[in-house]
Order: sequence, then C-alpha cells, then structure tokens
Amino acid sequence: MNKAGPRTNSNKQRMTAGFGIARAAGVASVLALVALSGCEEAPSVLQPAGEEAEQIKNLAWILLGIAVFIFLVVETWLITNIIRFSKPRDEKEVSQTHGDIRLELVYTIIPVMIVIVIFVFTVQTMDSLQAPGSDMHIKVTGKQWWWEIEYPEAGVITANEFYVPVETRTLAELHSSDVIHSFWMPEIGGKTDMVPGQTNQTMFTVTRPGRYLGQCSEFCGVQHAHMRFLMFAVSREEFSDWIAHQQQPAKEPTSEAARRGREEFVAAGCGGCHTIRGTEAAGRLGPDLTHLAGRETLAAYTLTNTTENLREWIADPQEVKPGNLMPDLDLEPERLEAIVTYLEGLE
Ligand code: CUA
Repeated sequence: MNKAGPRTNSNKQRMTAGFGIARAAGVASVLALVALSGCEEAPSVLQPAGEEAEQIKNLAWILLGIAVFIFLVVETWLITNIIRFSKPRDEKEVSQTHGDIRLELVYTIIPVMIVIVIFVFTVQTMDSLQAPGSDMHIKVTGKQWWWEIEYPEAGVITANEFYVPVETRTLAELHSSDVIHSFWMPEIGGKTDMVPGQTNQTMFTVTRPGRYLGQCSEFCGVQHAHMRFLMFAVSREEFSDWIAHQQQPAKEPTSEAARRGREEFVAAGCGGCHTIRGTEAAGRLGPDLTHLAGRETLAAYTLTNTTENLREWIADPQEVKPGNLMPDLDLEPERLEAIVTYLEGLE
C-alpha cells in the first residue's frame, strides 16, 4: 500500500488489497490444479497392486477405524458436556472423582487394551510381510542419486528401470553405497531403508501387470527428489525375454556415426564410470549403459529418454541435476552428437 497517499483513499486501497488477495488466492488455486494434474501418475498406497501393499492398506484402514472411533467417542463426550455444563446451575458442588480407584483403572485399562489391539494387528502384518520364501532374488543398491539393480542368478545389472514377473514373490536385498536411502514403491509395498554397510531386505509380489513408480523416501541429499525408478511387472514369458535381452552385450553400431560415437565415448573417458558390455567401457561408478536406449527415462527419472534430453543431459549434467557425480565434459558439438547417436542405438 502507498503510505504517502491521502487518507480518503485508504478504504479503496484496502478493498484493492482485498481483491489482490482474492486474486492471488484464485491464481494459487489454479496453479495448484495445474500442478496436481501433473501428478496423474502419482501412485497411491490406497490402490495396491501387490500382496504386501494390500496387507499394509488393510492394516492402515483398521488403524484409521480405531482412531476414528476414539475420536467420535471423545468428541461426543466433550461436546455433550460443554452443552450440559454451559448453562448456569445452582451452587451445589459437582461430584468429585479424584482418588476413585475404579475410575483410574478404567482410564488405564481402556488405552492399554487399544494399544494391545494395535500391537497385535501390526505384529501380525509385519510377520506375514517378512515370512520367508521367495521365488526370485534381486539386489538393489541406492546411490546418490540413482538405483543399481542386479539379478545375481542371471548375471544382469541395470539401472533405474527393471522388470519382474507378476505373481512372483521377489526378495529385494537392499544396499547403499553412500548415505541412507529408502526403497519405496507405494502401490507394491512398504518403505525399507537402505543403510551403508548393512543389508536389509524386503519382499514383494506384484498381482497386476503394469508400470510402477518407485521413489527414494529418505532424504539423501540435494537430488533426493530426483531419485526415482520404474518397475515393470510383466508375464513370466515377457520377463524371460527381457532377461535374455539384458544378458546380451551391447548392440554393434550400425552406422558410421554410431561407430564414431563408440570411439568418442571411450576417448572422452565415459568408460571410467560407465559399463557398456561388449566394449572396453567397464566403469562401475555410474549406471550400466549396455541397454540404455531400452529405458524410458534418464538420470533416475529426471528426464524422459528422448534424443534432445539425452543430448542436454550429456552436454550439461550439472544444469539438469545439480550435484550429481557426472562431470561436464565440455564436448565439441560433433563429438557430443556422435556419442548421442551411439547411445541411442543401445537397445
Ligand atoms: Cu536417495 Cu533420497
């Protein structure tokens, strides 16, 4: 507001300010709607697609039911008494309950019973989630800020996107190579921490084929929000095909540009951090790129995997995902283009 303005204007100014706030609120709600519409694929724990998530959801409803029941009882009692005692009454002393052992016992036993019921339901659920016996085993390692997924039996290592067969109880062994991360697929199961120097595990059984979003759920540094992954649950046949494809070494370049790209990839030192099986690039610091072109996303779901995004990512990784370990290589445009062409062919 203009403080120097004449006094007669202050009402008008106040109204303008009021309209300003209303308009700002309107704009904010429109923005919120736009932002929320971008979350259409936001996974919900209330729509589970896994046996374990189903059990967690059921437990959540039971706990919510108990909480709502207690809330209703307490509020009803409270409101009834507010109404009852709000009218002036005669001076007769209200009955005193201090030191009433029976009442004290009731006040103690009821909460203890509630806690026991919650405890029993929780322990039952935890027990069934951790029951031994799995049909498949994967190793997931959280890194700042991406995921390495290994299929030890098949000898396959991939990054940020992986497949599992439906109706298959999968044991995920969880590791971290730097700080604490947390493995979480809202529709599939609960959160499990990934702690450096310790092996945790979680089990999941996907009941519905689909594409499931995972997200790191423990703050692990500036790019924590950009530490996402995709899990594809497919039929057993599709899964076998996928594993067989992943076991293949990288596809040979089919064009002169791609061949040059492979040379540039090695010459620029990319192989110091990345592996492309079938080439001399064998670094283990960054994601395995052997089948990069088969992935939907780049940089742990920071970007979708398109030519422009791949180019942008390699040209200036610190602009796209500040703080990540990929250095800016300052490549000349032709070299960059050749590398992009090569990587795009790695299906
Ligand atoms: Cu990893 Cu948050």
